[in-house]
Parts: sequence; C-alpha cells; structure tokens
Amino acid sequence: MTSYLRALRLVNFRNYPDDTVVLAPGLNVVVGDNAQGKTNLLEGISFAVTGSSPRTPNDSEVVRWGRDFARTEARVYLDGGERAVAVGYAPGQKKRVTVDGAPAPSLATYAAGGAGVRVVTFLPDDIRIVKGAPADRREFLDGLLSTLRPAYARAAIEYAKAVQQRNQLLRRIRDGFSSERTLSTWDRKVVELGETVLRGREAALGPLEAYFAASLRALYGPEKADVRYSYSAPLDGYAEALRGAHSADIERGTTSVGPHRDDFGVLLGGVDLTTYGSQGQQRLATLALKFAARDHVRGETGEDPILLFDDVMSELDERRRDYLAGYFLESTQAVITTTNLDYFDEDILERSHVVRISGGAVSETTSGGVR
Ligand SMILES: Nc1ncnc2c1ncn2[C@@H]1O[C@H](COP(=O)(O)OP(=O)(O)OP(=O)(O)O)[C@@H](O)[C@H]1O
Ligand SMILES: [Mg+2]
Repeated sequence: MTSYLRALRLVNFRNYPDDTVVLAPGLNVVVGDNAQGKTNLLEGISFAVTGSSPRTPNDSEVVRWGRDFARTEARVYLDGGERAVAVGYAPGQKKRVTVDGAPAPSLATYAAGGAGVRVVTFLPDDIRIVKGAPADRREFLDGLLSTLRPAYARAAIEYAKAVQQRNQLLRRIRDGFSSERTLSTWDRKVVELGETVLRGREAALGPLEAYFAASLRALYGPEKADVRYSYSAPLDGYAEALRGAHSADIERGTTSVGPHRDDFGVLLGGVDLTTYGSQGQQRLATLALKFAARDHVRGETGEDPILLFDDVMSELDERRRDYLAGYFLESTQAVITTTNLDYFDEDILERSHVVRISGGAVSETTSGGVR
C-alpha cells in the first residue's frame, strides 16, 4: 500500500478559520456551491504536502483576510504507520515546516517528497500549459522534476539567478562599464547549471512523452500524440552557442540561449495544439500531461502521488466523465471537486468518500452514496 493523506487541518488558510477534513484512500469527492472553498481545500492539501501553493507564488495570499498567519497540518499514512507534517506561514517570516515535530532540512527537500507523499494538481487555469506561453510549459516541467529531485530544484533556481546576473553584466558591458572578457567567467557558471537543468529535462522527456501519448489515446482517440522539445541550444553545443551569441546578447542585454528559452510543443496527429487546438483538445491534452506526470512520479519513486483535480468533470462529455471516475477510483488517492454530484454515477459515489463544503466549513462528511 502506498502512502496517502488521512486528514488535513486548515487554520486561517484562505476562507477556512479552523477546519479539519478526513480523507479516505481512493476517490474523495468534494462537493459544494460556487465560492464555498473547494479550490481552497485542494490548495490547502498541496500547501500542506509541498510547502507552497500551486496557485500563487505569493504566500501571503493564502492567509485568511485579517489574520497574521496561516497553518496547515496533515496526517500521512505511510508504511503502515503515520507521519505528521505541518507548514506554518506568517508574512515577513520564514516558513516553518515540520515532519513529526522536527524542522524539515529545507523547503526543496520537503517539496520533493519530504511529507512522504507527492501531489499532482489539475486546476482550471492549467490549460495554459498547452494554450499559453513557453514559460507556462517550462514551469510545468520544472515543477514536476523539482518534486522528484531537490538537486534539480536547486539547479533550476540557481540557473535562473545566474542568467539574471549575466543579463546585468551584459548591460554593463553594453554601456561601457565592464569589459567583454568578464563574460566568459559567467558563461561557465551559467553553462554548468544550465546543463544540469537540460540533462534533467532530457532524461524525463522520453518517459513523459510515452505516458502522455498513452493517456491522450485513452482520453481522446487513436491519433498520434507527441511532445516535441525545442532547444534554443542543444546540450552538446550549449557552451559554443552561448559564446556565439555574445555580441547579439550584449546588444539586447539578455541571454538568448539556454533552457530558460526552450519550449516543448504538444502535438496531436502532427498538429501543434498550442496554435491550432480546439478548447476541448487543449483541455484533454492538459489532462493527459497531468496523467503523464502521475505516471512519471510513479515510475521514478514507486509511489502514486495524490491527485488533486479541480472541477474536472464539468466540461467533459459523459463517456469521458465515466473514464475519469474509473481512473480516480483506481488511484491510491484522488481528491476531486465538483458543484454537482450528478456528474458521478450512483455506483461510483457508493465507492467514494463524499465531503461537503459550505462557507469555508466542512459541514458534513459522509462515506459513499448519499446525495
Ligand atoms: N485569503 C483569503 N481569506 C479569506 N477568504 C478568501 C481568501 N482567498 C480567497 N477567499 C475566498 O474564499 C472563497 C472560496 O473560494 P474557492 O476558490 O475555494 O471557491 P470554490 O468553492 O472553488 O468556488 P467555485 O465553484 O466558484 O470554483 C471565495 O469567496 C474567495 O473570495
Ligand atoms: Mg473553485
């Protein structure tokens, strides 16, 4: 049995003053009207397990209005025992993360499975992974790889900083305050970190593409699906490409090659869905990417991540809703929000744990079958 979340307590988190939610293995259906706190609950689970919000980089947003801290506590079932994890945040202070009462070594190690369980989230806005800008796609890839390896997370953060510093240097050179010779020192640092990022991405792309193709086939149809990575500079020619870009980079004051400029295309039947996909195709491809992330985490760690899928049923047809319900039921743990239980068949609900949310309170928790 792999690990899952048994219970979650949210204190001053978004619209929750102090609430505890009990969760079951398998499918948990969170039901409530609009603006009651369903998305906030999924965000709270993610915050508890990864130490940050999947919705915003600005932690103070999660603190309940008028309060000066937010806290999440979770009980994780693992190896037949239990682990207690807590994340406390007060604006202006360092986040406090504890595992069984002891401080976590770092946020990066905590985010990479320190809680004993990982999450894969699907939020309505995630469609931008397919529909949006290259930065949205890179963020998806970097987020996934960071939950698998803290070393990747650190390299990606350090790389971004090194590129920013290189950009400052480029502008000083352009404005005559530095000489071009100083650039090669920074190039070495940028290449070293950038190569770690590129190697991490390269190793993941093969399996991810295979998982993605299989998921999209199940969700959409038999057309061939691909993920196509496009390099601004390939791994083996990276240092030369950076050197070759010196004068253009100085002129523009930005670094034009490296993993921060790469992208990947999401293709169906050879057609790029970012440019040509219908809304439904883009949404299903986003789902398939999330399923691929689940499979990749499972392949790398041997453990299923918890699936946190927000309002995923509403825009799907009945056949796809049935497929998804089956998929979630067979997951180690899935927490799915909905405004309407009619999206789930009676026999699915009988095998699920239903949680009702109203006005930032968990008003009723029932196991199965009650509408
Ligand atoms: N920091 C905060 N403090 C207090 N309330 C907040 C905070 N952030 C958001 N809220 C409120 O929480 C309420 C519930 O939001 P949430 O997004 O969880 O609703 P939901 O149940 O997912 O609704 P929908 O079905 O419309 O998606 C909203 O009214 C929102 O304004
Ligand atoms: Mg919502």
